[in-house]
Amino acid sequence: MALTDRLALSVLYALPPETAHHAALYALENHLVSTRAAPDDPILRTTVWGIDFPNPIGLAAGFDKDARVPDAMLSLGFGFVEAGTVTPRPQPGNPKPRLFRLDADHAVIDRLGFNSGGIEGFERRLMARRGKPEKHGIVGANVGKNRDTVDAGDDYAEGIERLAGIADYLVVNISSPNTPGLRDLQQRAALDGLLRRAIAARNRGAAMRRPPLLAKVGPDLSPQQMEDIAEVALATGVDGLIIGNTTVARPPDLNSRDRDEAGGLSGAPLFRPSTECLARIYRLTNRRIPLIGCGGVADGATAYAKIRAGASLVQLYSALVFHGPGLVRRIKQQLAELLRADGFTQVSEAVGIDQRSR
Ligand SMILES: Cc1cc2nc3c(=O)[nH]c(=O)nc-3n(C[C@H](O)[C@H](O)[C@H](O)COP(=O)(O)O)c2cc1C
Repeated sequence: MALTDRLALSVLYALPPETAHHAALYALENHLVSTRAAPDDPILRTTVWGIDFPNPIGLAAGFDKDARVPDAMLSLGFGFVEAGTVTPRPQPGNPKPRLFRLDADHAVIDRLGFNSGGIEGFERRLMARRGKPEKHGIVGANVGKNRDTVDAGDDYAEGIERLAGIADYLVVNISSPNTPGLRDLQQRAALDGLLRRAIAARNRGAAMRRPPLLAKVGPDLSPQQMEDIAEVALATGVDGLIIGNTTVARPPDLNSRDRDEAGGLSGAPLFRPSTECLARIYRLTNRRIPLIGCGGVADGATAYAKIRAGASLVQLYSALVFHGPGLVRRIKQQLAELLRADGFTQVSEAVGIDQRSR
């Protein structure tokens, strides 16, 4: 790790986790972090949904909930950035403290509860970067529902319709554990109805260029739920799935003091269960829709394992907290080496390879 990364991290570690997060956002927003990544190794280029990604490593939702720093994060070297989750109306989220760093476990527990500045500012900021030639990286928008909205479909439809014309892809987040009832939207009938409404909203919002619409699910799904999700995804015509969100499970070997805090667990302990869920859904969807693998990615080997398990693209968040921004460059370098060592000439050749040879 570079000295500047180590220094920045030790300052941030001295702060409570949520304050550290705000400090990092402030620094990025005000160009206090030097962010100019070298061009990507061509082996990392990949095309998914007709979109050319310079590399398959993306920033997962939750870091930039209000779309304040997508371009700063792109210039750290991410191949794409997912902003959100944004809710239609602003809301404060759950009472603090609500974010915990489990240092010994390289994990995070959060129960933020969709703290959001609301869609208005989010939409305005994404709109402002359009048409600026220096701001051409891929930015997705992840939408959710306000806590007190009764018909969740109304909120998703509003978010999707308003952002369809300005986001490169759209995500319906139905898997955050911190909004009561949200994960019930993963049940077969509810999911089918919700995705059909979301697709209709996307089509209304973007008549010319229809951005891909994805659902973010799991990883706490039963085998039956995974089958249902795969079938509904294929039947409704959704363009892809992100697998997945944080887990409410608590592996018995967590060592940190805060391990029993309520909320979603992310980071290293999530790697295995989320990769298993990804592999299973890859088999169930039979290569008919691209999947994004997310959960516990922290180096080239874990990113490569997600790809081999079935991910066309990969996302991460928690590892950034422990390793700092230099992590992105290292992951890409290691991933390129791993692909070459196995004789691949591009990412897509390795997607799902572990499943195909089973
Ligand atoms: C602090 C925090 C906030 C998050 N907020 C969101 C969110 O708003 N929407 C969402 O879809 N996922 C959210 N996530 C989940 C991440 O996008 C990701 O799915 C999960 O953390 C697993 O990836 P990781 O192990 O690389 O962190 C959040 C995660 C963390 C740690």
